[in-house]
Amino acid sequence: MAARRRASVLVYRPTGADTFAARVRAPRGRVTIHAASTADEAKAVIGEVDVVWAWKFPPILYEKAARLAWLETMGAGVDWALAPELPSSVTVTRAAGVFGPWMAEYTLGWCLHVTQRMGAYGEAQRARQWRDDVVPDRLRGKTMVIVGLGEIGRTIARTARSLGVRVVGVSRSGRRAPGVSRVYRPSHLGRALAEGDFVVLVTPLTAETRGLIGERELGAMKSSAWVVNIGRGALVDETALVKSLDAKRIAGAVLDVFAAEPLPPSHPLWTFDNVIVTPHIAGPDIPEELATVFNGNLARYLAGRPLRHVVDRQHGY
Ligand code: GLV
Repeated sequence: MAARRRASVLVYRPTGADTFAARVRAPRGRVTIHAASTADEAKAVIGEVDVVWAWKFPPILYEKAARLAWLETMGAGVDWALAPELPSSVTVTRAAGVFGPWMAEYTLGWCLHVTQRMGAYGEAQRARQWRDDVVPDRLRGKTMVIVGLGEIGRTIARTARSLGVRVVGVSRSGRRAPGVSRVYRPSHLGRALAEGDFVVLVTPLTAETRGLIGERELGAMKSSAWVVNIGRGALVDETALVKSLDAKRIAGAVLDVFAAEPLPPSHPLWTFDNVIVTPHIAGPDIPEELATVFNGNLARYLAGRPLRHVVDRQHGY
């Protein structure tokens, strides 16, 4: 890649675009920065920008992005970015190295919420009840199945191991990973799921993983198992999940992501005592953390050096 003297950057996200734009660091005079929070605002400048740094950029604008050379996502998952309209000449990079520690704390925190019966004690306290009949369980010795052993999955695995949790993984390659007792390929997903006390979904949403967890997979889990979805809502067939919760075929679910977000008020997933709903915050977008990744790549872009964390568009991550 040849060094570039100048670049025009569009920072796009539905909320807080200005805050993120203020974090862009570049040599004086070499970078023009635009911020947009709506498709209309973005439309006004998309034709003149070389770089887009975005969360949930409207794909309808890709066809107007005549100069676009590089798109960096403010997130780990790039499913929303890889629309067919995105020209193949555009390099896509993603925020890597940021979310693992957050998502490990989220996952282990909610696993401990389950084993330490925090919901029951909270409820008892609000009713001024001394519930010494409710007894906590040990997390140590439980098995966590992590579906997706990328950087985030591996960070969760290490954190779980440090608390004495046995970790089993599922990954496309089936390759061994540190701290993971056994790694299954997706063809043996059912076998892996059957081992889990907690099943953590942290795999990218691609054509292969859409609807990965349906009735059959939920049926393969222990009736005492909890599902933790921090990947994408569409990894799970939500109708099958609701059915399996209704029939008590699994113990519960901790859900940070949903097929439709925000989760509509009428959705049945709101109604279960054994479902935790969080609003897509397992890996929060902290401007300084994401900007560190973007600014590193922007410096490389201006210098004509290869970008880091490039997405393989064939694989979808
Ligand atoms: C959030 O969902 C992300 O992709 O980082």
